[in-house]
Amino acid sequence: MSGTAPLLRAEGLSVAFPGGKDWLRAAEDVSFALAPGETLALVGESGSGKSATAMAVARLHGPEVRVTGRLAWTTREGAEVDLATLRGEPLRRLRGRDIAVVFQDPGSALDPVFPVGDQIAETLRHLNGATRRAAAEGAVALLERVGIPDPARRAGEYPHQLSGGMRQRAVIALALAGQPRLLIADEPTTALDVTIQAQIVELLQDLQARDGMAMIFVSHDLGLVAGLAHRIAVLYAGQVVEQGPAAAVLSAPRHPYTRALLDCVPELENEGAPPPRGIPGRMPSPLRPVPHCRFADRCALAAPACREAPVPMLEVAPDRASRCLRWAEVA
Ligand SMILES: Nc1ncnc2c1ncn2[C@@H]1O[C@H](COP(=O)(O)OP(=O)(O)OP(=O)(O)O)[C@@H](O)[C@H]1O
Ligand SMILES: [Mg+2]
Repeated sequence: MSGTAPLLRAEGLSVAFPGGKDWLRAAEDVSFALAPGETLALVGESGSGKSATAMAVARLHGPEVRVTGRLAWTTREGAEVDLATLRGEPLRRLRGRDIAVVFQDPGSALDPVFPVGDQIAETLRHLNGATRRAAAEGAVALLERVGIPDPARRAGEYPHQLSGGMRQRAVIALALAGQPRLLIADEPTTALDVTIQAQIVELLQDLQARDGMAMIFVSHDLGLVAGLAHRIAVLYAGQVVEQGPAAAVLSAPRHPYTRALLDCVPELENEGAPPPRGIPGRMPSPLRPVPHCRFADRCALAAPACREAPVPMLEVAPDRASRCLRWAEVA
């Protein structure tokens, strides 16, 4: 998709939370580009800064959070605006409409005291000014589109009457109400069991391909994103450490951390091997940023040079970069 003008370009995006006397640097200098219809996976261990980054794009951080950098967004009219500084009506128009978000816990997006169909209809009325009747029909159509069987009946049910998987489908229907150009899905399947996970991933993939919607899919699981992502950005301790086309990153990682994450995915690489044990060691604290390669303490390839200075992103192939001095030796 490199021929298409990007929908979104994040340039040097940093997110810091107030953390006592210092800032807690959750994401630092994150850059990526996303074309219309493209899926970017943000992958990394717990605490690597995936949600902090995704929430910055959706402008969901409160005023106490320090967000710097640029988020160049191409509007439907073809103009470029900076999402990071957008305010007032233009921001409201974008949020919930052009950019929609689906979180891990489907419960939190739905109001327990209203039938799901009513909640979607209400959103349609609010976003598109639909009549009551058109909104009710639109809600049923959206429930059908996300694969809920017998959608007209289900529309009248309350969230607690739906299974976890069906609830997450309803949340996705709600997210689609504004016909978003970008869907941000933050661990949308983590609360679901494995077979349902696969179904939701398939649904998202299907919707994305059919509607040409762009997607940022956040996950700690490289195995899950393998079938879904066009591009992958691997985050470690708040930094992107590797980025490139999904197939290339998965088949020939160029950062030892990506390699280690892949070794944690049994079905991808280790068939018949003992179960993966996770990556030994711990990620450095975001309160005390490491002034050199942040992965060095857990890295078998670490050399003295890795502990001397911060490592920049190095171009290792066209459209591919790694924050590793020894990327050529990653096997
Ligand atoms: N509201 C907050 N206030 C202070 N620190 C926060 C807040 N939210 C996240 N953090 C910290 O920021 C860092 C990055 O967190 P983030 O939620 O982005 O990680 P993540 O990659 O999404 O992890 P997970 O896989 O657990 O969801 C972590 O150290 C986390 O503790
Ligand atoms: Mg998260």
